Amino acid sequence: MKKYLWIIPMLLQAGAVHASEAVVQAQIVGYEQQGASGADAARGQASWNEQHMQPDLGKMVSCASCHSTDLTQAGEHMRTAKRIEPMAPSVNPERLTDPAKIEKWFGRNCEWTIGRDCTAQEKADFLAFIQSK
Ligand code: HEC
Repeated sequence: MKKYLWIIPMLLQAGAVHASEAVVQAQIVGYEQQGASGADAARGQASWNEQHMQPDLGKMVSCASCHSTDLTQAGEHMRTAKRIEPMAPSVNPERLTDPAKIEKWFGRNCEWTIGRDCTAQEKADFLAFIQSK
C-alpha cells in the first residue's frame, strides 16, 4: 500500500493545473439555470473570432482583437497597447478561477465588443472554449 503514496502528490499537481475546471462547471450550471442548454467550445470559438462594428473606434473588432486567436499566447489591448496575459488556463492557471472576475469582464467586454450583454448561452460557450485551451 505504502509504495503507492507517491501517486497522491502527482494527482494533486494534475488537479492544480485545472483549478479553473470546477469554477467553469459551476458557472455553466448557473448559465443553464438562466436558459443556456449545455456549452459548446466550437461555437464559443466561432463567437470569439466573430467581427463586430465598434462604434467608438469605427472599426471591426472581436474578442481576439485584444486576446489573440491563439489563447496560449499573450494578447495586446487594442486601445492601450498593454499586454494581456494568455487566456488559456493550461498556460495561465489564474484564468477562470474567480467567478466575480469572469462576470465583471464579460460585462465590459461583451458590451464593448458586441455592443450588448452576452446571453447565458454565449457565456457558457465562451467558457467552454477558453477552458479547452
Ligand atoms: C478592448 C480589449 C478587449 C476585448 C476586445 C475583449 N477583452 Fe476580455 N479582457 C480584457 C482585459 C483588459 C481583461 C482584464 C485583464 C486580464 O485579465 O488580463 C479581460 C478579461 C477577460 C476575462 C476574464 C478572464 C479571467 O478569468 O481572468 C474574460 C472571461 C474575457 N476577458 C472574455 C472576453 C470575451 C468573451 C471577449 C469578446 C466578447 C473579450 N474578452 C474581448 C480586454 C478585452
